[in-house]
Amino acid sequence: MQLVNINYFKLLMALSTALDLTGSGMMKHHVRVALIASRIAHKIGLDQDTVKRVVHASLLHDIGTITFTEKAKLEDFEAADTYSHCARGRWLLEFSPLLRGLAEIVHSHHDRWDGGNKTGLSGDDIPLASRIIHLADRVDVLINNSEYVLHQRKFIINKIIDLSGRVFDPYLVEVLLDLANQESFWLDLTSGMYEKLLPKEIRYSREKVSVQGLLSIGEVLARVIDSKSRFTHIHSRLVSKVALQMSKAAGFSPGHCQAVGAAGLLHDLGKLAVPEAVLEKPGPLTSKEYDIIKCHTYYTYRILEMVDGFEDIKCWASYHHEKLNGKGYPFGLEYKKLSDESRLMAVSDIFSALVEDRPYRLGLSRHKVEQILLEKVKEKELDGKWVSLLLDNYNEMYNLKDSCKTNENPIPF
Ligand SMILES: [Fe+2]
Ligand SMILES: [Fe+2]
Ligand SMILES: [Fe+2]
Repeated sequence: MQLVNINYFKLLMALSTALDLTGSGMMKHHVRVALIASRIAHKIGLDQDTVKRVVHASLLHDIGTITFTEKAKLEDFEAADTYSHCARGRWLLEFSPLLRGLAEIVHSHHDRWDGGNKTGLSGDDIPLASRIIHLADRVDVLINNSEYVLHQRKFIINKIIDLSGRVFDPYLVEVLLDLANQESFWLDLTSGMYEKLLPKEIRYSREKVSVQGLLSIGEVLARVIDSKSRFTHIHSRLVSKVALQMSKAAGFSPGHCQAVGAAGLLHDLGKLAVPEAVLEKPGPLTSKEYDIIKCHTYYTYRILEMVDGFEDIKCWASYHHEKLNGKGYPFGLEYKKLSDESRLMAVSDIFSALVEDRPYRLGLSRHKVEQILLEKVKEKELDGKWVSLLLDNYNEMYNLKDSCKTNENPIPF
């Protein structure tokens, strides 16, 4: 099994940043919940490994919340119907052997202490990590970013005390009250220095992770990205499969092919920052809307940049809208700066988009796809070498579409 040496914490931080991409201003929610949760976990004397698990689950706890509309609803302290995103979160995390251990924690992270939950759990039967995250999550939601935090702490604490023993575990509320006596607890939460503060809570070093494990995390992320729109629900997985198949056809080594496949899964990660209204528009985009779409590869780049060891994958994933003639986005790179892997990714992306259905058209015919790709070679947008390779293996590439339709989400977004 091929292993890679990465800082697992930085990888999770990058994922949590991706999950916080939103237009509604709840940036840094995951990392702030992780900070509160780790302080509670330490205070009650949990061991290092358990604190780590609490932090990891906190960093991903709202992974089942995909749309801006749903994210906005959860900002309401008394949000109704919190179960759907918990169930989706569990479903997503179970795809990855590396994240599976967090699935049940995420599933119960809105469970009330006094019961009546769709998970069927109450009181001490709710995983302790879930109870901690629930409390931390609601404290964070109560913080109003436009007001000085120490002027709000009384109000926040009173709200929490009021729900102790009903919504929240009363013992954990006591622990929180103790922590909340320190001004630094609150000031840390609004300091913006989370990347510095959180690693102080837990000891981390680079660890060996299998390439398969990384791919499985990519699979989870691909499902999150593709769930943003009904019309692109297989896109990331299809791009990944096409890119991997092209790498094989070009004779890349197995590890190299898998790395290209992982880049394919993550290529549209930054789409989490694009409103659904733009992604789902049933017609051509206006130039302003097109400008909004353009941020997605920028965010893919900035997020993958956070992970040591992802230097190549970052470029292969985020240059897929660059063009050989330098007229692509967001960096306007010319052919000299675009590696073979980035060029094949661009071809895989366009091919996949053309054969998939879109809000305003069905997947295109082979003749039309060939015509468009060859035109783009002529315009010096795509590399002719990779377009030829794809067209020479057209049926094989096209048939990959069917293999992406398995494991559909049981709880629609
Ligand atoms: Fe949540
Ligand atoms: Fe949350
Ligand atoms: Fe894209």
